[in-house]
Amino acid sequence: MLQPLSEHMEKIIRSQLARIERMKNEGDFVDYDALPKLVIGICGGDGIGPAITAEGERVLRFLLADDVAAGKVEFRNIDGLTIENRAACGKAIPDDVLAEIKACHVILKGPTTTPKAGDPWPNIESANVAMRKELDLFANVRPIKVPEKNIDWVFFRENTEGSYAVGSQGIHVTDDLAIDFCVTTTQGTERIIRLAFEYAKKTGRKRVTAVTKANIIKTTDGKFLNIFEKIAKEYPDIEHDDWFIDIMTAKLLDEKRRSDFSVLVLPNLYGDILTDEAAEIQGGVGTAGSANIGKRYAMFEAIHGSAPRMVEEGRAQYADPSSILRACVMLLEHIGKQKEAEKLEKALDICTLTERKVVITGRSTGATGAEFSDYVMETVAKLA
Ligand code: IPM
Ligand code: MG
Repeated sequence: MLQPLSEHMEKIIRSQLARIERMKNEGDFVDYDALPKLVIGICGGDGIGPAITAEGERVLRFLLADDVAAGKVEFRNIDGLTIENRAACGKAIPDDVLAEIKACHVILKGPTTTPKAGDPWPNIESANVAMRKELDLFANVRPIKVPEKNIDWVFFRENTEGSYAVGSQGIHVTDDLAIDFCVTTTQGTERIIRLAFEYAKKTGRKRVTAVTKANIIKTTDGKFLNIFEKIAKEYPDIEHDDWFIDIMTAKLLDEKRRSDFSVLVLPNLYGDILTDEAAEIQGGVGTAGSANIGKRYAMFEAIHGSAPRMVEEGRAQYADPSSILRACVMLLEHIGKQKEAEKLEKALDICTLTERKVVITGRSTGATGAEFSDYVMETVAKLA
């Protein structure tokens, strides 16, 4: 029994060591301005994904119309990231789909079904997690804002390591013993923490907070926290503090404390959990966007799932595109279209928070996603 086990362990360790070597040699961030043409790939995904992604594409095409006409921006539709195709190929991302994705610079992606034990689908790895790893999208950036409650948080979730790094390669040692792995590397931790501090510096934010469970998960979270302390010293003008994940979930609800938080940096799983809580405080997971940033590629997505029930009940056209449109704001920022990003963000605030002339309910009692996007574009046009 121990022989195959140690072989499995060795395989995992070797692949992580190889990943470290790749990180050591990774270049700097791509300069999108220097590219003759920027290619935006659109992956619809599953469930309500194609419906909301189509709205995202329509709004992006509207905002980038001049660049598209001048041949500086190209949109490419990438089919095949569906659960049916992934299950048929037995792969989280089929090879041909991955090749198409890699021929783009940035991706707008709808939610994808993630099979779990007991589902009718083969228990393949999540397409999301696979894409983050394949494209080395190490920073999951999730902004949350509730101005009237003085909440303005930006989460920097590590996106390629932690409990997700080899999350699909745990071991059933015996019928009674299952073991999973958690991975922290120096390079992977340094780059996410540095990005968080650099963001704070660039945007004039005063505090960066690390969230771990380093008192219990001593080795991997301990390493994350040590590296945080070391890098914080390079930024003496920015305050830093650290919290444990359990009390942090409580403190996000503490009105006396939560406005103190600004930039938060955290390992993968804690970031996954805490950003859903934060999105709920903002008004629900449907209101938040999510950017997955790497040095060469970036992918932008809604923070919510594929809502298969809405499709089964024939309600896909009533799905709310707000979350993917928030992701489009981040996409525009990332490709250097600051003016367009600001306009879309302002319009979304007007359409979802202040004016709310067209309201989505998820059912025929409310507007369709297309009607809502029309309203967003009309609002953008008025801002111009
Ligand atoms: C998210 C999601 C994903 C994750 C799932 C869909 C794999 O919850 O983007 O937060 O766990 O990261
Ligand atoms: Mg999540």
